[in-house]
Amino acid sequence: MDQMIVRPGGALQGEIPISGAKNSVLKLMAATVLTPGRFVIRNVPRISDVDWMADSLVALGLVVDWADEHTMTVDATGDITPEAPYHLVEQMRASTALLGALLARCGEARIAMPGGDDFGDRPIDMHLRGLEELGAEIELSHGTIVAKAPRLTGARVVLEYPSVGATENLLLAATRAEGVTVIENAAREPEIADLAAFVNRMGARVVGAGSSTVTITGVDELHSVEHEVIPDRVEAATYLAILGAARGELLLRGARHGDLHLLARKLGDMGMRISPDAAGVWAMATGRPVAVDVATLPYPGIATDYLPMLIALLSVADGTSFATENLFQGRFRYVGELTRMGANIRVEGHHMAVRGVERLSGAPVRAFDIRAGAALVVAAFAAEGETTIHDAHHLDRGYEAMVGRLVAVGADVVGR
Ligand code: UD1
Repeated sequence: MDQMIVRPGGALQGEIPISGAKNSVLKLMAATVLTPGRFVIRNVPRISDVDWMADSLVALGLVVDWADEHTMTVDATGDITPEAPYHLVEQMRASTALLGALLARCGEARIAMPGGDDFGDRPIDMHLRGLEELGAEIELSHGTIVAKAPRLTGARVVLEYPSVGATENLLLAATRAEGVTVIENAAREPEIADLAAFVNRMGARVVGAGSSTVTITGVDELHSVEHEVIPDRVEAATYLAILGAARGELLLRGARHGDLHLLARKLGDMGMRISPDAAGVWAMATGRPVAVDVATLPYPGIATDYLPMLIALLSVADGTSFATENLFQGRFRYVGELTRMGANIRVEGHHMAVRGVERLSGAPVRAFDIRAGAALVVAAFAAEGETTIHDAHHLDRGYEAMVGRLVAVGADVVGR
């Protein structure tokens, strides 16, 4: 999709299915590298980041196929070349998740060093230091991380910060290390618990995933498995924010309220009604949102991935909101686009003051990354007149069939 055109109309009404979580499936795919065998992964979202990860697996020598629309098979039986080339890592940083799994299976890994991206520097020093603590030797040569470890050994690793990616890389590496690894100050995101469930099913011994101490007892052998990906909480959050802007009533089929707990409370403070439902999450928005303050934090805090959508919604709230981005200091490029639509937002360092205006005004705007694109969709529903979002291909990286799903609940949206 190159452009997405939104014409706000009446309230939204109906059901939106929530896909499998992007940030989970990419790591599950990396985990298939751990052992020979044929994996079946269900509830896989059809998004372009999954295609990029599939390309990375194929480049390593694995065979990726689709059994049906949302069921992926990965055959990891053949020989593996433990190398993720630059053009793939550059397309998708999550390919760094292959580092730990490749080290565990092959005793070596060569992964292009990821560069900066649209929300600033994203170093991987904690991943590398942790792997060194498990016995890997790591050097950077000609833009490639070269890691070697004929045998990984369990260790106590204390993360400086609960990094999602570092926790996952270390968890994967430790599954086959000799002895016990304890990751302290581990990230607690639901996607990490999903990864642990996946590898435990494979025969790994991981305890405590989803809490800040994860203990992994290395095993000699793993086997392939079937697994269903957890629902995407960021996709659910996006449709909640869109509903807040457009108003109406939606059932987000398959979403897990527990994963969205604090966000649901925050949206509740803004005036929306959100409840767990046997089939997913039910939500209703009837009036103009009320201003609230918000700060991003590692899980279970409000996710940094939600903030752009929340800011878009707060830009039409009654009152002034103060927002703080604590994870990615450079993640504000979307603010300039919201300003073009009439939002009144002032950025100071990593803080924002959002003075709510009655309505935004539709305009041509540009998506700089996935969530920036999602924020513009939210804004478009809170605007008068038509909005054209350029570079809408960023949305395809993380949202399956967004246009179709919105049209099905009564929105006037076109993708081309
Ligand atoms: C993952 C998610 C991303 C989400 C983020 C935070 C995937 C594919 N991406 O990214 O959508 O926004 O979690 O919830 O799952 N840091 C370091 N050194 C490191 C690692 C991280 O300084 O070695 C810093 C980062 O720059 C950032 C913070 O730690 O400021 C959090 O990063 P991290 O949790 O690692 O995020 P990702 O795993 O990259």
